[in-house]
Amino acid sequence: MTETLKIDLYADNLGKTQAIATQLAQLVTAGTIMLLDGNLGSGKTTFMQAFGLALGISNTITSPTFTLIDEYTEGRLPLYHIDLYRLESPQIPSLHLEEYWRGNDFPLGVVAIEWASKLPNIPRQHLRINLSVPTRSQSNTNIFENPETFNLELDEGDLDDLEDDLPKDRHIELTAIGADHIEILRKFKHQFKHQFKYQ
Ligand SMILES: Nc1ncnc2c1ncn2[C@@H]1O[C@H](COP(=O)(O)OP(=O)(O)OP(=O)(O)O)[C@@H](O)[C@H]1O
Ligand SMILES: [Mg+2]
Repeated sequence: MTETLKIDLYADNLGKTQAIATQLAQLVTAGTIMLLDGNLGSGKTTFMQAFGLALGISNTITSPTFTLIDEYTEGRLPLYHIDLYRLESPQIPSLHLEEYWRGNDFPLGVVAIEWASKLPNIPRQHLRINLSVPTRSQSNTNIFENPETFNLELDEGDLDDLEDDLPKDRHIELTAIGADHIEILRKFKHQFKHQFKYQ
């Protein structure tokens, strides 16, 4: 059985989520694969923005929803940021995302995939980052449980208005599978416990 390490974190505000992402960015290595999941607005792109800054990327990381894949090469490591939100699982194999972690056609770097649960083939070794709004603060339960409906019913202006009302706390689950990713998470756990209390 492949070894797994899991950490549950609680970020009671945006700054905590950013601090978690910043800390992680200091530990990742060439070949790290981050699989981000969590409903619409849970904070995947926000996490990646702080992560990118800490990696030394000064271009603001945006949601690659329309470009699908963004490549950032100016940081400590190349970052390949992918968003699968608008794709159906059968469309994904033709993207050949594995090229990003094979290191043949692209310099090996960090691959971060939003909506990774859509991947038909999950890379065996990875770090899963799952963001969610804790149930007790879920004043807008329907938004998080029905992201598709939410997306269809609202235009962008409505989304901006709603974001003001969204809770500020997040449950962040980090799960590492495979020796390299576990090593990163072990170091993270060790360093992080000196800064923030975690469960
Ligand atoms: N503790 C927190 N952690 C992360 N984001 C937070 C937090 N508190 C508030 N927010 C806000 O929640 C929103 C998260 O939006 P973001 O675009 O990052 O979500 P997403 O998961 O990438 O959504 P999508 O699936 O649409 O790409 C941002 O407006 C961010 O400022
Ligand atoms: Mg996003």
